[in-house]
Amino acid sequence: MANEKTLIGRRGLLAASAGFLGASVSSGRGQASNDSEGLVPPWSKEQGAPIRESSYGEPSPFEKNVVRRPRGALPTFPSAGTSDTPLQNLTGIITPNGLVYERHHAGIPPIDPAQHRLLIHGLVDRPLILTMDELTRFPSVSRLHFLECSGNSSATWTGGNPKWTVQDTHGLLSCCEWTGVLLSTLLDEVGIKPAAKWVLAEGADAAGLSRSVPIDKALDDAIVVYAQNGEKLRPEQGYPVRLFLPGYEGNMSVKWLRRLKLGEGPFQTREETSKYTDLMPDGTARQFTFIMEAKSVITFPSGGHHLKGPGFYEISGLAWTGRGRIKRVEVSTDGGTSWHEAQLQEPVLSKCLTRFRLPWTWDGGPATLQSRATDETGYIQPPRRMLTDVRGFNSYYHLNGIHPWHIDPSGGVSNVA
Ligand code: CO
Repeated sequence: MANEKTLIGRRGLLAASAGFLGASVSSGRGQASNDSEGLVPPWSKEQGAPIRESSYGEPSPFEKNVVRRPRGALPTFPSAGTSDTPLQNLTGIITPNGLVYERHHAGIPPIDPAQHRLLIHGLVDRPLILTMDELTRFPSVSRLHFLECSGNSSATWTGGNPKWTVQDTHGLLSCCEWTGVLLSTLLDEVGIKPAAKWVLAEGADAAGLSRSVPIDKALDDAIVVYAQNGEKLRPEQGYPVRLFLPGYEGNMSVKWLRRLKLGEGPFQTREETSKYTDLMPDGTARQFTFIMEAKSVITFPSGGHHLKGPGFYEISGLAWTGRGRIKRVEVSTDGGTSWHEAQLQEPVLSKCLTRFRLPWTWDGGPATLQSRATDETGYIQPPRRMLTDVRGFNSYYHLNGIHPWHIDPSGGVSNVA
């Protein structure tokens, strides 16, 4: 079986590595003897640091390079910008709260939760103003979902820079456990008038960022969220309360939520007319393109990694779809000539990141690695070329094409520009 072959390959690699590693064999890997003489490091010979008082834990100082990185902020308007999640450094599917990507249109408002209010009004029977204490008394849910900016990967419409990492190309993507009150629960409380077909969601930031949400989505799986990964929302994620629309473009999950207004039609806000529309080659624009389609990317090996010689490597990456569950991920190591079915790490959840893995033995030659996701609707992630053939190069948002990484014989991994 394939598994058996893989295991044999791995044993072979470890044996070979002992010679390869040379001096670092004393780290305990490879040809370890039963004699521990000289193998006890200084930190095993003395007491470690005591527990700190009232601390909030931090990563090891050796992980100090695992950080969000900002991009493209205008010096004239520094409060509007983005920062990218370091996907190349993460395992599994959860994004730690301090590494969840950011996108702000007017900076992070310093909201006092005691003073914050959420207004629900418009075409409802009983308009309501909620304090945070009142909101958190409603029955709650906790669900794992990805969050992706609709502009994620947008710089690669035309290929981009060979030096880009997966943080640069796909870093506007994160995944958390989100806790809050289903919007359907709140709408049940206020009573929806029959004419109500859309909901305006408005933020309390200085941009007053606002989007129109179809009532079907509002009643389906929309959540009014106050916590992420077990703790209260981070300020940059909408503290004390945000909207969360699973599978929809991130911009619609309005942060610092202060108002929900029900109306008969969409509200035609700036963020759904001037921005977040998709300009087609004929000059028309697609509006209300909400759902993030099936997409995947290899996170190891990826841009900026350096393979230390031929041998065994586990290819690993992430797949997701705004339409439900990922059904299959295939990986090619020969530029798309042949494809191999990757293993999906459980749990495979709806509108959530799915981790995939594939054992691979690199022969040391040039290689092009790419992944292709299929979701439960049967939709298959397309090559980038298939998207540009239809949508041209005016588009900015919703690029979900297959993403290749090139490995050169020295082991260097680069973005295929
Ligand atoms: Co869109």
